[in-house]
Amino acid sequence: MESYKQEIDITLRVNGVEYRDQVPAHMTLLQFLKEKLFLTGTKEGCGRGECGACTVIMDGRTVNSCLVLAVEADRSKIRTIEGEAKRGRLTALQKAFIDYGGTQCGFCTPGMIMSGQNLLERNQKPSRDEIVEAIAGNLCRCTGYELIIQAIEAAASKKGK
Ligand code: FES
Ligand code: FES
Repeated sequence: MESYKQEIDITLRVNGVEYRDQVPAHMTLLQFLKEKLFLTGTKEGCGRGECGACTVIMDGRTVNSCLVLAVEADRSKIRTIEGEAKRGRLTALQKAFIDYGGTQCGFCTPGMIMSGQNLLERNQKPSRDEIVEAIAGNLCRCTGYELIIQAIEAAASKKGK
């Protein structure tokens, strides 16, 4: 009989870097990012798929990393907020969040940026409704959403030029 294995081998790419590790079967992708890779930019709010603070991009689509097991992310490509700015240069979307006041306490911001960025990479000129839909799973207690929507619109208008 095969002996019970407590930890499972996984290999995944995070922000372009390959990681191999052994993880418990119950470890979430969010825990893996924060506790194993020390990528603490992704936030944990509710821990049960309701707030979107933990949003990352997994193989081109946004996921709540608190609902994905690390073993489910085996062989996948993950993008987190830490991978967005390159060599200290903010992305157009990150700049727009600052310019338009789309970030206040900042807790929702990493998840909002990942949802907004994923939208802009799929759709260079999203409508307001498409922006609202793209961030529908991301809760913000501070901004009232309008400033975030304006920031995404501003970043889209720069991309579309
Ligand atoms: S912490 Fe994952 S959805 Fe709230
Ligand atoms: S800026 Fe505070 S929760 Fe969104």
